[in-house]
Amino acid sequence: MKTLLLTTSLLLTASVAHSAELVLGDAAKGKQLHNRDCVACHDSSVYTRPNRIKSLSGLEKRVQMCSGMLNKGYTEDDQANIVKFLNDTYYKF
Ligand code: HEC
Repeated sequence: MKTLLLTTSLLLTASVAHSAELVLGDAAKGKQLHNRDCVACHDSSVYTRPNRIKSLSGLEKRVQMCSGMLNKGYTEDDQANIVKFLNDTYYKF
């Protein structure tokens, strides 16, 4: 019985270690901004294409770049919320 418990807790620890990256932000707010502003140049198909961005830091950089092009004065929080929304919905890093 002791062995079984130990095995179970090891498995639990391992699954926590492999869970998705922690991304802070408010996905609902990010979604609002995204759906208002970000679909001007591309639709959401770019987030699911085969050669899409492969890392969370890449996604953060891209959102920063696209926000810059938009030039609507997005704050860091706005960008974090959009990253959270895109990650929760499409990328799942
Ligand atoms: C001025 C035009 C423009 C606007 C506005 C724009 N983007 Fe982009 N975005 C691009 C272009 C161009 C690409 C690259 C498309 C390509 O490589 O085919 C791109 C690509 C992306 C990608 C990469 C997709 C992938 O995985 O390959 C993300 C993420 C992204 N944009 C997010 C956003 C977000 C979030 C916003 C709103 C803040 C936004 N974009 C607004 C032009 C724009």
